[in-house]
Amino acid sequence: MAKNSSTRSVGKACFGTWLVTAALLFGSTASGVLGAESTEITRNCNECHGTDGLGFKPGLPHLNGQPEHLLTSMINAFRQGTRPTKVKMHRDIPDADVTPLAKHYSQQKAQRPKSATNPEFVARGETVHLKRCADCHVDNGRDSDKEAPLMAAQDLNYLIEQTLAFKTGVRKFPFLMDGAYKDLTDDDLTAAAHFFAAQEQEIPKKRRRR
Ligand code: HEC
Ligand code: HEC
Repeated sequence: MAKNSSTRSVGKACFGTWLVTAALLFGSTASGVLGAESTEITRNCNECHGTDGLGFKPGLPHLNGQPEHLLTSMINAFRQGTRPTKVKMHRDIPDADVTPLAKHYSQQKAQRPKSATNPEFVARGETVHLKRCADCHVDNGRDSDKEAPLMAAQDLNYLIEQTLAFKTGVRKFPFLMDGAYKDLTDDDLTAAAHFFAAQEQEIPKKRRRR
């Protein structure tokens, strides 16, 4: 509490100067100031996820529009080592940054550029999805049920890697997802990843903000 209020008052002292500068630079007040705060909180993430949550190259996930509780649980899983990661930064995210980071990315519009997908795989993936994945990855991965993440128009390389990671045991299955994977081949799973990556992204109505 004490820490919080002292940070606030330091912030306030500089706020006037910043507001004038912001108004000069951007010709606006509210949005310029908000943008500056967001950039600050994501400074260690921008290199890969951008300030808007869009992955910069194939293999990097898009975080924009992902439900806040999911981002929180993924970040905490990295920090606690229950989800493996190639990125040391993920394990070092300080306690105090978890909620602001999850809030920030969840509030970005879920507009994502689509990866190039293979139409044969997309068609095969749709069959796999309808039989095995649709219960939880509802609305073709555009919405989430049973704590499942938003997957529509997610980066293809990232999705393929993560889809297989559950099968090889690199990532632990969430509740009941192991049953859905039973007897599926690597090609079936890769096809499912193509299917999700090929979906149009829309912001689920309940999370639409403007
Ligand atoms: C050097 C690149 C890099 C940096 C910097 C980075 N990430 Fe990541 N991020 C990745 C990669 C690659 C993955 C895919 C999984 C893995 O290997 O960790 C990922 C995955 C994630 C995920 C899981 C997404 C999902 O759909 O489950 C979250 C959440 C995340 N990063 C948040 C952050 C935050 C917050 C920061 C800044 C504190 C950050 N990342 C910094 C590269 C990066
Ligand atoms: C019983 C519900 C359920 C079913 C059925 C299910 N999933 Fe999931 N899935 C989840 C949940 C919950 C998560 C969140 C992961 C976590 O908590 O580690 C998830 C996460 C994922 C992820 C990780 C996404 C990311 O951003 O990191 C992939 C990939 C995935 N599922 C693929 C599939 C595929 C492919 C199928 C069908 C063959 C499937 N799932 C069926 C519940 C389910």
